Amino acid sequence: MNHRTDITSPADVRLLIERFYGKARPDPIIGHFFTGLDWDHHIPLITSFWEMVLFGTEGYTGDPMTAHVKLHRHMPMQPTDFQHWVRLFTSTVDELFAGAKAEEAKQRATSIAAVMAYKVRVN
Ligand code: HEM
Repeated sequence: MNHRTDITSPADVRLLIERFYGKARPDPIIGHFFTGLDWDHHIPLITSFWEMVLFGTEGYTGDPMTAHVKLHRHMPMQPTDFQHWVRLFTSTVDELFAGAKAEEAKQRATSIAAVMAYKVRVN
């Protein structure tokens, strides 16, 4: 039986993000990019980003493309790193949720990652 429900609340978004970084931080391929991040700052920041993406909630005022262009200058990210990021994100969504918002989250992650992978390389 499938007990998964859709992403419907800020608490759902928070759970998704915490679970995602629970995978990303120890990950052998992309984990090293996250070493030394202030998680008390990063988790609420990313949660507010995804609340904006999925529900149009105001609050996130950052600029993810510029942030990753800067990151790339210090720690180059390969297209394969972005593909792996998307795999981890997608599998985290699928483990926790099912529904229209869950599908939207996976699609948005995939398309933002593709744009980001392109931008970090041309900037
Ligand atoms: C290989 C893939 C990725 C890696 C290694 C990565 C890593 C990071 C790191 C280390 C930061 C912190 C930067 C800093 O504070 O100096 C960051 C910030 C962030 N990331 Fe990523 N990221 C990746 C892909 C993505 C994707 C695909 C998205 C969105 C779908 C995303 C969303 C964000 C957001 C919203 C921030 C906060 C930016 C801000 O407002 O300061 N990341 N990422």
